Amino acid sequence: MNNRRLASIRRELLEWYRRSARPLPWRATTDPYAIWVSEIMLQQTQVATVLPYYIRFLERFPTIAALAAATEEEVLSAWSGLGYYRRARSLLAGARIMVRDHGGTVPVLVSELMSIPGVGRTTAGAVASIAFHRQEPVLDGNIRRVLSRLTGGRIRGDRTAADEAACWELATVLVEGDEPGNLNQALMELGAAICASPMPACRSCPVTRWCEGHASGEPGRYPPPAKRPATLRIQAAVAVIRRGEQVLLEAPGEMSPLRGRWDLPAVEHESDQDGGASLVVALRDRHGLEARSLTAGANVSHGIMNRRIRLTAYHGTLARGRVAGRKELCWVEPDRLDHVPVSGATFKVLQAARS
Ligand code: ADE
Repeated sequence: MNNRRLASIRRELLEWYRRSARPLPWRATTDPYAIWVSEIMLQQTQVATVLPYYIRFLERFPTIAALAAATEEEVLSAWSGLGYYRRARSLLAGARIMVRDHGGTVPVLVSELMSIPGVGRTTAGAVASIAFHRQEPVLDGNIRRVLSRLTGGRIRGDRTAADEAACWELATVLVEGDEPGNLNQALMELGAAICASPMPACRSCPVTRWCEGHASGEPGRYPPPAKRPATLRIQAAVAVIRRGEQVLLEAPGEMSPLRGRWDLPAVEHESDQDGGASLVVALRDRHGLEARSLTAGANVSHGIMNRRIRLTAYHGTLARGRVAGRKELCWVEPDRLDHVPVSGATFKVLQAARS
């Protein structure tokens, strides 16, 4: 993209941003700490959801020092309901690192920012540009879509290494102006409000004159839709081992195809394998338990991401093996599952097993 076109896009975007940017609280502050908090909250979460949490969080922890002195429970409780709780732990750890290594301030350089937990290249670019007016690029999903359309699909925004490098390169030259923070936020805002997916509102867009996607007459074609990963079909056998009214659950583990919270013990198997026999072996290997006379019951289908799991319940009892006192196993009454968080798949199998 030549320099004149870049300068025009920059100028029009900034003018449009000044006219129409939403008055968001992190845009009304110059406090780098508040800007860092906003960028962490805005990872994977929409503006409208973040707003009340952001205001409450800063009331509760108004400074880096206040946050660094908080307990994890206090921070998690302020975060409660916002999801992706690792972000809350990262903020706390980050505040403590800032107190220890940066004199209680948010570091200025992208390289330093990226050593703070939870801060990747995009968040570092946002904080450096918005809080410190540094010419650092930002690349989120909205900006990838805007760049793909501006370049008429030459940038695809498909996250391949070569395309990603081209995206960062264009985002880098675009931000080389006087107002990098506003420019980055203008790009994000344009992607969220106008250059939306799937249909852009080109009539309200400040940069249609320089947009190859618009010139093509079909800007909605860019970026091309990401290929959906092929559905993986998985067959699994699930043990419904009973002791009186109770059933046996195991703690979440990498071994389970259900990978939930607490689960009925389960094992993946090939469709030509005997699920019941596979379960007997898995219960013995994983837990030293001997199951007795497993018999096949209901089938349940369950989807997790791109995996479609066909679950067959196998009912039986334990012939040998100890459960009491082991933290990876427990007996639970299926009617009292409110005490034990179980995976969606386990819940479905227990429902089917009742009827
Ligand atoms: N998403 C990430 N950072 C943002 C910001 N500063 N404004 C609006 N949306 C955002």
